Amino acid sequence: MFDQAQRLREMVGGSQATSLAIVPPPPAPLAKHARTIAVTSGKGGVGKTNIVTNLAIALGRRGKKVLLVDADLSLANVDVVLGLQPRFNLSHVISGEKRLREIVLEGPHSIRIIPAASGIQEMANLRDEDIKRLISEFAEFDREFDLILIDTAAGISESVLSFAVASQEVLLVTTPEPTSYVDAYQMLKNIHFYSPTQPVHLIVNMAANQSEGEQTASFMNEMANRFLQHSLNHIGTVVRDPDVPASIRLQRPFLEESPHGPAARGIQQLSTRLLNQTSNREEGGQPEKSLWSKVIQFVRKGAVAHAG
Ligand SMILES: Nc1ncnc2c1ncn2[C@@H]1O[C@H](COP(=O)(O)OP(=O)(O)OP(=O)(O)O)[C@@H](O)[C@H]1O
Ligand SMILES: [Mg+2]
Repeated sequence: MFDQAQRLREMVGGSQATSLAIVPPPPAPLAKHARTIAVTSGKGGVGKTNIVTNLAIALGRRGKKVLLVDADLSLANVDVVLGLQPRFNLSHVISGEKRLREIVLEGPHSIRIIPAASGIQEMANLRDEDIKRLISEFAEFDREFDLILIDTAAGISESVLSFAVASQEVLLVTTPEPTSYVDAYQMLKNIHFYSPTQPVHLIVNMAANQSEGEQTASFMNEMANRFLQHSLNHIGTVVRDPDVPASIRLQRPFLEESPHGPAARGIQQLSTRLLNQTSNREEGGQPEKSLWSKVIQFVRKGAVAHAG
């Protein structure tokens, strides 16, 4: 298991000495790749999809070009929150029936959405030439974006871990409930196993107030530091707000439906912090592999040796 983990770490660039320091972002022209951020949790139903969708809109409003990858198969996924109806998804691109650009959906504020829930596992069985085609199609497309946000499914699966480990950063979502932060900790443990220096930002969602968010975050940080020596960056708290379920019923993002409500304010603050901070992951002088080539390598290896 150690050998496999070591190989995977090398594959995803995690074995390099990396720095978790939070530093100001570099000037835009220097950025060769989009910043890639996977949103994950452990326990389901903690608010990943709502947070990532509204965060994408907040970033889009600030003029950022955002690609939202919907890798969550559950019913209440990104297209439901935005009231969109995708006809095609990533599996059609993988089978060669569609080009990547043909499956992309347009959301508010020029955000683009890739319905990718179906297809990730199929990548494990592709022929080398199909993989090359796919990676080069993605590489060309990804260059158009400043940020790529990935909404992942609940639970610790190979697909979820592949995105969490292949992204430059992770947004780990928990609520203040023990069942939720225990599962979030398990997720962190698994991410740490494959990528010990992966920068992880923590979001506490559905908190009663800011101070409950702080308490949950400092508790989790203590566990992560003590048992994994992995620091978490508490990037924000989103409070419990009845506007959130109300806007889902309307299939409208709460940032637009209730822009001055407490949850919307939490998202605005989150987007500000995210843009003001960037994780300084030194790649040891090696050119960074693209998100998709790392994801494909991960699923092809049939990775998952869980951290327990
Ligand atoms: N800040 C909040 N205040 C009140 N309700 C919330 C908040 N955030 C999320 N919810 C509610 O929690 C439920 C789950 O949210 P969501 O679908 O975004 O979670 P998820 O983590 O993506 O779930 P899954 O793991 O199934 O994909 C929704 O019904 C939503 O209305
Ligand atoms: Mg979801």
